[in-house]
Amino acid sequence: MSGIPVWMDCDTGMDDAVAIMLAHALSEINLIAVSTVCGNAELDKTYWNTQRINRLINADYPVYRGAEKPLMKPLAPAVNVHGENGLGGVELPLPEDVIVPDVPAWDALYACARSMPGELRLVATAPMTNIATAFIRYPDLPGLLHSVTFMGGSAGSGNVTPAAEFNFYTDPEAAQIVLQSGAKLVMCGLDVTNQAYYSMEQLESMAATGSRAGTFVRDCGRYAWSVFGKLGMAGFSMHDSCPVMYLAHPELFEGKMAGVAVETRGTVTNGKSVTDLYSDKQFPFKNVLVLLKVDRDRFISILTDCVLGIR
Ligand code: BDR
Ligand code: CA
Repeated sequence: MSGIPVWMDCDTGMDDAVAIMLAHALSEINLIAVSTVCGNAELDKTYWNTQRINRLINADYPVYRGAEKPLMKPLAPAVNVHGENGLGGVELPLPEDVIVPDVPAWDALYACARSMPGELRLVATAPMTNIATAFIRYPDLPGLLHSVTFMGGSAGSGNVTPAAEFNFYTDPEAAQIVLQSGAKLVMCGLDVTNQAYYSMEQLESMAATGSRAGTFVRDCGRYAWSVFGKLGMAGFSMHDSCPVMYLAHPELFEGKMAGVAVETRGTVTNGKSVTDLYSDKQFPFKNVLVLLKVDRDRFISILTDCVLGIR
């Protein structure tokens, strides 16, 4: 397979599902495997949802099981956003003959990174529990990876609380371990991911082509819209597709190096990503490339071509 080698860590999740579809379809990317973690839903659901996406796209990516709970906090799944089943109530069949690897996510990720030092791009679209666990067990792993491009955090305000974004809020300690790991980091926070949205009209046109994949994305979008429409959002934000798209098309994005840390103890600010982007006082480190802008038209056009190209 040609293309840049990518490992995805997901809590599949409606927008995680679309991100896997995008990584599958982009010719620039060679998707190697997907590891799963609790987050939007319990691990069993995110695991089997990922296998369902394998079937939807006619693929057989290895899918690994990871953490069943965050490092320190109890899990609070995003039922209000992703529904009870994690896919907005959209029912997808399971593949036949699934092989569930008996190696946990962190061991499999490490073995893969060791087999191609400096090459593997890790994409995280979930709470970073699996990745922090891998970094704790294998302290040389951050240096073996090419980079970690993640959806999480926000330089502005949050979504799950006024301060915090969902992935960072769900496991702030894990996020902090990754931020301090020394790995090359690219952050797709809410600042940029909320710019990358589908309008309901765009989703309906996609489904009108008769595409199975396009109909699935539209059905998820209808569910998301029932929640986000009331909140005055513009559409269905493709949060988790941003890190995947960035790896293939960095030219669509603008960003800035910044110091980023996570609040792990605050009461009203627990899980908030704190950046020094807009502050007089700077952190003594610049550890993250924070993406702040995306060309939405090009983003949606490439994503749509990818989804509709899936057979
Ligand atoms: C993030 O939270 C999850 O609900 C989404 O899948 C995305 O990864 C957005 O805050
Ligand atoms: Ca996610």
